Amino acid sequence: MCGIIGYIGKENPIEILINGLKNLEYRGYDSAGIALKDKDEIEVIKSVGKIVNLEEKVKCKELIPSHLGIAHTRWATHGKPTENNAHPHTVGKVTLVHNGIIENAEELREKLKKQGVTFNSETDTEVVAALINKYYENNQVEAINKALKEVRGSYALGILFQGSDCLFAVRKDSPLIVGIGENENFIASDIAAIIDYTNKYFLLEENEIVKITQDKVEITKDGKEVEKQIQTTNMEKDAKDKCGYDHYMLKEIMEEPVVLEKTFKPYLEDLDKLPDLTKYEEIHIVACGSAMYAGMIGKTLLEEYANTKVEIDVASEYRYKNVIYDRKTLVILISQSGETADTIAAMRKAKENNVETLSIVNVKTSTIARESDKQIFIEAGPEIAVATTKAYILQVGIMALLAYKTALTKGLVKENDKVLEEAEKLPRLIKEVLDRRDEYKKVAKEIYNKEDIFFIGRKIDYATSMEGSLKLKEVSYIHSEAYQAGELKHGTISLIEEGMPVFAIVTDDTIKDKTVSNIEEVKSRGAKTIIISNEKWQTEDLQVTVPKISPYFQPILIVPTLQLIAYETAKLRGCDIDKPKNLAKSVTVE
Ligand code: G6P
Repeated sequence: MCGIIGYIGKENPIEILINGLKNLEYRGYDSAGIALKDKDEIEVIKSVGKIVNLEEKVKCKELIPSHLGIAHTRWATHGKPTENNAHPHTVGKVTLVHNGIIENAEELREKLKKQGVTFNSETDTEVVAALINKYYENNQVEAINKALKEVRGSYALGILFQGSDCLFAVRKDSPLIVGIGENENFIASDIAAIIDYTNKYFLLEENEIVKITQDKVEITKDGKEVEKQIQTTNMEKDAKDKCGYDHYMLKEIMEEPVVLEKTFKPYLEDLDKLPDLTKYEEIHIVACGSAMYAGMIGKTLLEEYANTKVEIDVASEYRYKNVIYDRKTLVILISQSGETADTIAAMRKAKENNVETLSIVNVKTSTIARESDKQIFIEAGPEIAVATTKAYILQVGIMALLAYKTALTKGLVKENDKVLEEAEKLPRLIKEVLDRRDEYKKVAKEIYNKEDIFFIGRKIDYATSMEGSLKLKEVSYIHSEAYQAGELKHGTISLIEEGMPVFAIVTDDTIKDKTVSNIEEVKSRGAKTIIISNEKWQTEDLQVTVPKISPYFQPILIVPTLQLIAYETAKLRGCDIDKPKNLAKSVTVE
């Protein structure tokens, strides 16, 4: 994780760098730092905690006049979030910021120590700075090249050298773009960081080294010059504003009807724009976090309605396990960012085994989008809140359409079925669900002072429970677990206590009666159940009822209620909703 920005141009870089860091804060926010360069002086300012702390510190200092700088927001991997460990790191004539993990950092550190280098931090980054410094005589690109030959791992680096008025950068397995402005240029972990200044950029490919001045960008790979096609993003400048909402999470939930309509439009016009899954004998779905839970909904729908064999795994397991590819298989990778390190590794594993890959991805320029064989893009736009909401809904939506298309192709759909007509209604129905915030506030009041909560459901309702539980624990820090309703009694029911909230998700008619029995089991042990269903129940329990719709899309009406309950609960608990502790949005390390 971690976010990087760099600037060279006519302006004083401080405001640009701080503004950029704020837009990258979703990538990590435990400490931050800036380096400014003027002639041969490099000034470094760091602080622990969020970017505002750095901003305050910078305001109170008289800084060197400068037109060149790099900055970093950190999500700690090697070493605690202290000022010493915060980036930029300087060794000798080299100052740099880094996103990624250097796998052989300890080995290199020991070697360098023997050569007389002393280290001031526990980070793997400082080792890279030391290595580049070791090779630096007067050719910066050569020094970077030589150093990186010894480095194993992932990196995006922004580098300043004493003795040069240029900005340098390089990447491998961590994202980095070069932004092109007028008499100014940038580097950044993603375009959102610099969209206020330019919409022109190009992607840096693996181990291309870029040397940047205010009006020139030179790229080389292994000593040879590389030509680049400049791209233009259509990201709106205000796409990253809160638009009057208290939090990005709320804004992004409220955008769900619009982004779903946009994502569905081409496929509702022509379902054949979606790939044909019937060509494969087996589907593997691989993803992390919420994206994996979206995959669980897809697996349930594909098995249930399209009679398709589906395996699902979290990417961090899939990449290392013995996957048996003995049939014609398609690997579906689901990822909002398209940069999740484990999901990238799972994709590459499939490709190495000559297995086809299909990605469902939001960021079109991401590694997964570029390297997968086929892509389906969701149109979430920038998602800033660390806890995903709108992107998850769209991932589920695409999986639902894929399952429906597969069932249709296999002749498994009843003639009078109205699935696509129901899909047309979804944006309006989601809006209806979102408009009932008072109900969610009421539920939040019931649960916000509890420390343990369960979510139960069966089949697709279990998959939905997983996301509901994750959302709640991510943003409110309440411990919660999702369980298959029928499995709870095999041990875990011992945890149910008087007054403990249990959310029961019940939408699947075929299994409803069984879940009702499980609800009785927890109630008779003192649980306070909250029923989330697509029909009104005769019960004293708290309940939230959403419109009934085709089972393909029912989770798309249930999950927004759970997202808003998590949001309201976190608000009552005074949590930092958009940036929960310990998390980062884009997990670009293993
Ligand atoms: C992180 C985020 C989650 C997200 C997961 C996968 O853990 O906090 O919200 O679901 O990464 O991210 P991706 O970008 O691959 O969907």
